[in-house]
Amino acid sequence: MSIRDKKITIIGSGNVGFHLGKRLFEMGFSIYQVFSRNLDKATRLATAIDAHPINQLNQITDQSDIYIIAVKDVGIGRVAHVLSESVGNQKIVVHTSGATSSELISKYFDNYGVFYPLQTFSIEQEVDFEQIPFCIDAKSPEVKETLLELANYLSPKVYRISDRERQILHVAAVFVNNFTNHLYSVGEDILEKEKINFDILKPLIFETARKIENQRAEDMQTGPAKRGDTDTISQHMEYLDKHPEYQKLYKTLTESISKHKAK
Ligand SMILES: NC(=O)c1ccc[n+]([C@@H]2O[C@H](COP(=O)([O-])OP(=O)(O)OC[C@H]3O[C@@H](n4cnc5c(N)ncnc54)[C@H](OP(=O)(O)O)[C@@H]3O)[C@@H](O)[C@H]2O)c1
Repeated sequence: MSIRDKKITIIGSGNVGFHLGKRLFEMGFSIYQVFSRNLDKATRLATAIDAHPINQLNQITDQSDIYIIAVKDVGIGRVAHVLSESVGNQKIVVHTSGATSSELISKYFDNYGVFYPLQTFSIEQEVDFEQIPFCIDAKSPEVKETLLELANYLSPKVYRISDRERQILHVAAVFVNNFTNHLYSVGEDILEKEKINFDILKPLIFETARKIENQRAEDMQTGPAKRGDTDTISQHMEYLDKHPEYQKLYKTLTESISKHKAK
């Protein structure tokens, strides 16, 4: 059976399930069922991709060939357990997590794998799949081949990544995405409180990301901590007296940049 003829079930209609389901459908794949504990959410996605919405795990049938578990990490083990009772242990079953070990599903399925799209997904924000690195792993070479083929329909950036490598990538991803985004929101909050337009900072944010396209991030570091400009640092710390949480962050990051510089 060619990969295009394989039916897919999407378990989870949150950020990842929503975008993955829609993109697979757009690429011509047949999505059989969509699960969410909330039937409205399952229906919203299922209607868009011509699938059957369900809100009970035991309603998942064995008619699909590939089952994509895209639920919160804390739910993956239980979903895998219930799924194995409905579909047996021979189906291809993957999760989409960066942090969760494949061991959580390997105890239930012979043909388990990981299908991790290394990008930030929010339902309301369109994503460009061509730019998404897919990190693929599976124990069986046949399953790995199938997952690589599937991922290649979605993106040219497909990598074979072991459990350990994926979990390390996830640590680094938290630094470069979750933490930087949090820092954007700190800047946003400071400016909003002072009634200054955050848009003025946006070219700086985009240029910072653009610069590291061809350069090492460490080499592109600028600012008072990098320059060892203690007067400016003291002035900033004084301003931040009114934001003790942000002051703590500023101090920690300043120390980290200074130590990095000293290496
Ligand atoms: N968002 C990202 O940027 C991103 C990127 C790459 C990988 N991932 C990974 O992809 C997976 C899904 O992430 P997400 O951001 O799509 O999550 P999400 O939007 O927060 O939730 C996804 C789904 O998980 C379901 N769910 C939550 N707790 C559950 C439980 N205990 N049992 C069964 N279902 C449960 C939710 O069900 P209801 O609809 O019933 O509430 C929802 O449909 C995670 O493993 C995450 O690490 C996320």
